[in-house]
Amino acid sequence: MARAAMSASLSDILHAHPLMTFGPGKYKYQIEGKTSQNRYSVSDGNQSLSFPLLWAFGTGRVGQSYLFKKQNADFFETRVTYFETLGTIDFTPSRALLSPSSIEEAMYRPVPQAEVMRCFGCHTTGSSIGGHFDETHLVPGVTCEACHGPGAAHVKSVTAGTVASSAKAKSAIFDSAYLAPADAVDFCGACHGTWWDVKLAGVKGVSTARSAPYRLVTSKCWGKGDARLTCTACHDPHEQLQTDAAAYDTACLKCHASLSGPSKTASHEGPACPIATSRCTTCHMVKVYVPEMHSNFTDHRIRIAKAGGAFPE
Ligand code: HEC
Ligand code: HEC
Ligand code: HEC
Ligand code: HEC
Ligand code: HEC
Ligand code: HEC
Repeated sequence: MARAAMSASLSDILHAHPLMTFGPGKYKYQIEGKTSQNRYSVSDGNQSLSFPLLWAFGTGRVGQSYLFKKQNADFFETRVTYFETLGTIDFTPSRALLSPSSIEEAMYRPVPQAEVMRCFGCHTTGSSIGGHFDETHLVPGVTCEACHGPGAAHVKSVTAGTVASSAKAKSAIFDSAYLAPADAVDFCGACHGTWWDVKLAGVKGVSTARSAPYRLVTSKCWGKGDARLTCTACHDPHEQLQTDAAAYDTACLKCHASLSGPSKTASHEGPACPIATSRCTTCHMVKVYVPEMHSNFTDHRIRIAKAGGAFPE
């Protein structure tokens, strides 16, 4: 998450792909990453437009999108995004335009200021101070203070040597470990999408798999909320995403009985699996393909998934 956004000039993806082109119709799109200044260009054969890119959003695990400016302060989003599975650019998710009315419309989408603040709010740290967007002082990526709040008071109490001893010093920094389970999930959901966010936005079908908090709380395992199933029960937000399925087994077995051991107990109220004893997530947290992202996401609704079965809403 620490690299969720960066200056376009620092994008490894652009450096590794010095020339990317795309053009399903009349308009030809091009991103040149070979010079110190990346350029985004669109041409319809007669006319062409070209601007340097300013910001790159996304580590590229799934993809990377770009923002630029013309002259003034307004931001524009490129009509194309880099997708890791494609190794090149294609239409930005939910922004495909097959018959744009002008080269400008074909090239970009003006991003309203309120939305700019939200993009930077989720992908960078400290971009808005007192409700005002400040591009010059933000820290690119989701860093410590995005989750722990401003650390100045904390640093002061550590230097004063009072951090471990005084309750006041401890409360000087926000530690989400003290949150109730539903609040802990909504804490990550502030950026990843809570149950309410998904409902209010009217997102349906496989696209909802992008919102882990929404899917997780609809699992039977979640019940009325349980500290053994919050995001941090499986993910350490300070480490890279764990991709070894076996590493998640201990989280499941905090609640589920194992076939070899005693059946359901008071502390292990979940039944044992009749099929397997390890790598639980490979069968019960399935990968679903989200077409607009050209990529798979992990369905956080833990369930018995039937091969070829429908995606449950
Ligand atoms: C300030 C916004 C924000 C908050 C709060 C946040 N995330 Fe994220 N997270 C992101 C963004 C943005 C990405 C996408 C980064 C990328 O791939 O470009 C991400 C990616 C991830 C990933 C994918 C792998 C990775 O490391 O890139 C995991 C896992 C994750 N977040 C877990 C969590 C958990 C757990 C919490 C709560 C403790 C949390 N996040 C809170 C913004 C946030
Ligand atoms: C509500 C918080 C939020 C807002 C607003 C937001 N993002 Fe994200 N974005 C995320 C999270 C969380 C992820 C990781 C999960 C996912 O891919 O859906 C992500 C993923 C991405 C990715 C894929 C990165 C990768 O490889 O994993 C791109 C590209 C991206 N966002 C660009 C943008 C742009 C551009 C904007 C503004 C126009 C924006 N986002 C607004 C939270 C947000
Ligand atoms: C995506 C959100 C997120 C980011 C970014 C993040 N943290 Fe955390 N951090 C958490 C959460 C959530 C916990 C509580 C973990 C738990 O539930 O046990 C935590 C716990 C901690 C703890 C342990 C506190 C305790 O009570 O055990 C320390 C120390 C810490 N973080 C420091 C940092 C530092 C330093 C950075 C930046 C390099 C950072 N964190 C970035 C979410 C985050
Ligand atoms: C029971 C374990 C478990 C819990 C709880 C859990 N996750 Fe995950 N998560 C996983 C697994 C397994 C993966 C897939 C890892 C891989 O790619 O191999 C994953 C992947 C992700 C990814 C990467 C994108 C994707 O869809 O593959 C994000 C982002 C993420 N989780 C966020 C969250 C957030 C936010 C929460 C809390 C609402 C959460 N997770 C709770 C197990 C869990
Ligand atoms: C907080 C405790 C808890 C955790 C952690 C947990 N579960 Fe569960 N799970 C339960 C309980 C309790 C049930 C039974 C719920 C019911 O029948 O209403 C259940 C039910 C299930 C079911 C049956 C669902 C269905 O549709 O019938 C599966 C499959 C399952 N869990 C797998 C897992 C896997 C795999 C993991 C780890 C990725 C996991 N669980 C983590 C408590 C948990
Ligand atoms: C190879 C795939 C696979 C793996 C790995 C796997 N399961 Fe299952 N699991 C299944 C299938 C299939 C069923 C449904 C069996 C049936 O209905 O007869 C099931 C059923 C379950 C149930 C419901 C049992 C009941 O009595 O209602 C639970 C709970 C469960 N698994 C948990 C787990 C846990 C925990 C793990 C890891 C220790 C795990 N599973 C590993 C395939 C798997």
